[in-house]
Amino acid sequence: MEKIQQAIERARQQRDGHTATVVGPARAVEARATASGFDLTTAKSFSVAPRQAEASRLVTLMPDAGRADIFRMLRTQLVQRMKNVGARSVAVFSARDGEGKTLVACNLAVALARQGSGPVFLLDFDFRRPTVHEVFGLQVDHRVSGIIEGTASLGDVIQQINGLPLYLLPQGRAHPAASELIAARQARDLLKDLRDHYVDSTIVVDCSPLLLTDEPLSVQQIVDSCLLVVQQGRTRRDEVQRAAELIDEGKYVGSVMNRVREADLEEGYAYGYR
Ligand SMILES: Nc1ncnc2c1ncn2[C@@H]1O[C@H](COP(=O)(O)OP(=O)(O)OP(=O)(O)O)[C@@H](O)[C@H]1O
Ligand SMILES: [Mg+2]
Repeated sequence: MEKIQQAIERARQQRDGHTATVVGPARAVEARATASGFDLTTAKSFSVAPRQAEASRLVTLMPDAGRADIFRMLRTQLVQRMKNVGARSVAVFSARDGEGKTLVACNLAVALARQGSGPVFLLDFDFRRPTVHEVFGLQVDHRVSGIIEGTASLGDVIQQINGLPLYLLPQGRAHPAASELIAARQARDLLKDLRDHYVDSTIVVDCSPLLLTDEPLSVQQIVDSCLLVVQQGRTRRDEVQRAAELIDEGKYVGSVMNRVREADLEEGYAYGYR
């Protein structure tokens, strides 16, 4: 574990001279301007059944509050680090697929919303394998891609969860032009709209894997900060290092060790989530 953390640190220190892959200009995506000024009190609401939360490991919505401790800790530390760099939005990245990005993003978003310091928006920007809706058990009629393409409004897409100030912008199914969608000006406008209009909001963005897709590099340009999820025992050290090299140093706010063995949890070392 320590070695992985050291690899991240080493990668950070060795960044000089490393250049992130440059994403080419997006093909034009025809779209209207994104909706702004939507009144959140009129958002559609959705209740997550306890058995759904249990089945998808959404511990922050489970009745046993103790199981969510790790996410309360993560939230508190993350909020502090985001404040330090003046960030209001955070993208959740990992090197490869299946390392727990979506589950961390969802639990983190709930934990942030429970803090009650403003609305939290959770955007499913993994247009290849969107699963945020599955974690919450949500039926999706209007997709966040529709806002970018100009076929849906914020009000169509947004779903409030469990009466919390938590607003999901789900995707629901894969989109064939993932890379173009994220690089579109309208994607940037959407984040800017949310940030500017809901001044005390926090925005959490779920993404596709850093080493397998180019979308995270575009996402990185439109968020204020980035969090890296690493799955203990699965993500290789060189992969962590390559992923860390792709993250803009000024936007990196920490890493989350997912599926950490209890015995390996050390205070002040990393966020662990089993
Ligand atoms: N700490 C954990 N303990 C047990 N299961 C977990 C844990 N973290 C994630 N999982 C499970 O592993 C699977 C992959 O997690 P998740 O979908 O969050 O990963 P991801 O990085 O978003 O994957 P993808 O790259 O496909 O989007 C899911 O079934 C999830 O429930
Ligand atoms: Mg995912």
